[in-house]
Amino acid sequence: MPMNRTEAEAATAGPDAGRRKVALITGITGQDGSYLCEFLLNKGYEVHGVMRRSSVFTTQRIEHLYQDRHQSGVRLRLHYGDLLDAIGLRRILTATRATEVYNLGAQSHVRTSFDQPIYTAEAVAMGTLNLLEALRDYRDSSGDDVRFYQASSSEMYGKVCEVPQNERTPFYPRSPYACAKVHAYWQVVNYREAYGLFACNGILFNHESPRRGETFVTRKITRAATRIKLGMQDCLYLGNLDAKRDWGFAGDYVVPMWLMLQQADPDDYVIATGETHSVRELLDVAFGTLDLDWKRYVRIDKTYLRPTEVDILLGDATRAHDILGWRPTVSFIDLVRMMIDADMELARREKTLVDAGYGTLPGWHTAESIYERDAALSQLAAPEFDEVPVALGQHRS
Ligand code: NAP
Ligand code: GDD
Repeated sequence: MPMNRTEAEAATAGPDAGRRKVALITGITGQDGSYLCEFLLNKGYEVHGVMRRSSVFTTQRIEHLYQDRHQSGVRLRLHYGDLLDAIGLRRILTATRATEVYNLGAQSHVRTSFDQPIYTAEAVAMGTLNLLEALRDYRDSSGDDVRFYQASSSEMYGKVCEVPQNERTPFYPRSPYACAKVHAYWQVVNYREAYGLFACNGILFNHESPRRGETFVTRKITRAATRIKLGMQDCLYLGNLDAKRDWGFAGDYVVPMWLMLQQADPDDYVIATGETHSVRELLDVAFGTLDLDWKRYVRIDKTYLRPTEVDILLGDATRAHDILGWRPTVSFIDLVRMMIDADMELARREKTLVDAGYGTLPGWHTAESIYERDAALSQLAAPEFDEVPVALGQHRS
């Protein structure tokens, strides 16, 4: 149902009462969506999120922010929608009268994009175009000023043309996901230049947190290390340990998303820490924090290797420092320790249940792949990994 204009404006009353502050976030149930939602609510925004209908709840990351819509003063509302459904997006824009749109929705797993290239391109490339078209049409018919943020990615630099990478570094995408992000990036630039849309690309380097999905390498490692420490897991299967990434804290990275939309002119910015570390170094810090030697537990599983890999990412965020005044606040070591602390708490809870006789099948909650879950269910020993089991066709890591 379209939102009443007076109600929307009243909800944003405050020091900036003259200016409506209404944000629409796609991907609100994801890692970044949850931090951005928190940040914007704290800034006094009315926040609307687009979420996909699912047979299970997907709102765990924003549960602490959600209030029943029957209560008064509710400033977070969720709308069913999908980036593949352009007309639905257009309707949500009319209903919410958003002043800022943050497009964070995506099939965001690089390894999975090799298994599902067409779906990934639909969601990431066509999804962004659907939203841009809906926005252009909404702006032209309502006359409202709307600003747009696109979640672009350092993955676009792929087989890097220079180190470090900045806003002028050419793209050389190395995965279906990265190719789709490059398409979306250029659509955003073109909507800015062709239609005068206030649209920005944030080229964000990897960012992590205790809310990170469990199949991304940082979280996979912190989850496993803490479970191993408590005797609930024996080993951890990984892929390429030599890859290097510029890892920052997700909570820091949502701030420049907002800052970009507060500038006088739209532009594109690299957001990064300016430090790069290998997966091995990540293992050193994560297991080291728990006084464990990772070499005793980590095994290589070729199925986690990618057909084409991005060897090194290192960002130069000078422009964001100079123009947005942004700097990261959490170091690599503190980030890994933060994630270890949070996962240790989770592992302790899990162990309490197991010790009380309420444990589940091994690997069920922490399955890194569909194969591992199947193996747990059928109580089979792990097979040789140079032979790809059928179930791995859809594995998620
Ligand atoms: P994430 O945790 O995987 O969250 C992705 C979000 O997109 C989820 O809310 C997901 O919904 C939603 N989504 C997926 N397909 C959709 C569709 N077809 N329509 C609508 N929503 C859809 O990702 P993240 O780490 O928060 O990243 C946010 C964005 O930044 C993504 O676009 C990602 O590609 C990009 N990015 C991330 C990083 C990083 O290091 N985290 C770096 C650069 C760029 P469900 O909950 O229903 O699955
Ligand atoms: N996921 C995963 N699982 N990665 C592994 C594993 C494993 O078992 N073993 C080694 N790696 C290596 C990958 O090969 C990659 O080089 C690196 O760890 C990081 O992998 P991910 O954590 O999956 O992240 P990503 O860099 O591929 O992609 C993330 O960052 C991009 C920004 O550069 C995602 O968040 C993307 O959505 C984002 O755009």
